[in-house]
Amino acid sequence: MATRTEGGGGKLSGKVAIVTGASKGIGRAICVELAQCGYHIIVNYKSDDEGASQTLEKVKKEGSNGRIMRFDVANYDETQNAMDDILKSFASIDVLVNNASLTNTERHFLDADEEWWNRIIAVNLSSAFLCGQRAANIMARKGSGVIINGGFTRLAVY
Ligand SMILES: NC(=O)c1ccc[n+]([C@@H]2O[C@H](COP(=O)([O-])OP(=O)(O)OC[C@H]3O[C@@H](n4cnc5c(N)ncnc54)[C@H](O)[C@@H]3O)[C@@H](O)[C@H]2O)c1
Repeated sequence: MATRTEGGGGKLSGKVAIVTGASKGIGRAICVELAQCGYHIIVNYKSDDEGASQTLEKVKKEGSNGRIMRFDVANYDETQNAMDDILKSFASIDVLVNNASLTNTERHFLDADEEWWNRIIAVNLSSAFLCGQRAANIMARKGSGVIINGGFTRLAVY
C-alpha cells in the first residue's frame, strides 16, 4: 500500500481509490490510510449506511474527501453501474481494494448447502472479477493503477 511519504497520491493528489466492504473493520482502516495519502475515497458498502457514513467521516477528518456507494460486489449489474457512475464523476480509477467478503462463514461440510456455497463464492471470489476486470480495463487504458485483492481465502468448511 502507498505510504504517506512515498508511492501514494500525496495530499490532494486527486487520485481515486475504491475500497469495497468499507463500512467497518479492515476496509474502514484502509480508507483512512489511503485518505492520509491524499486519495479521494469511494467507500463501498452493501447495507450498513451508518457504518459507511462513519467511515466517510473518518476520511474527511484526514483532510481528504469521498463518497459512500452502496452496491453488492457479487452482483453484475450493480458493480458495472457503480463503475460507470464512478467514471462519470471522476474520469479515473487509480486504486481498487477488493476487501469485501462474507466473514464468519464457517459451516460443517455435512451441513453446508449449495445456496451457502454459491453465495460465498460470489461474494468472496467472483467479486474480484466483477469489480476488478472493469477497473483493470480502465487502468490498462490509462497505463497505471493498482488492484489489491484481499478476501479470497475466506472460506472455511469443516
Ligand atoms: N479479520 C481478519 O482476521 C482477517 C484475516 C484474513 C483476511 N481477512 C479479510 O479481510 C477482509 C476484511 O475483513 P474484516 O475482518 O474487516 O471483515 P468484516 O466482516 O468486518 O468486514 C467485511 C465487510 O464486507 C462487507 N460486505 C460483505 N458482503 C458484501 C457485499 N456483497 N458487497 C459489499 N460489501 C460486502 C461487509 O458489510 C463488511 O463491511 C475480508 O476480505 C477478510 O476475508 C480478515
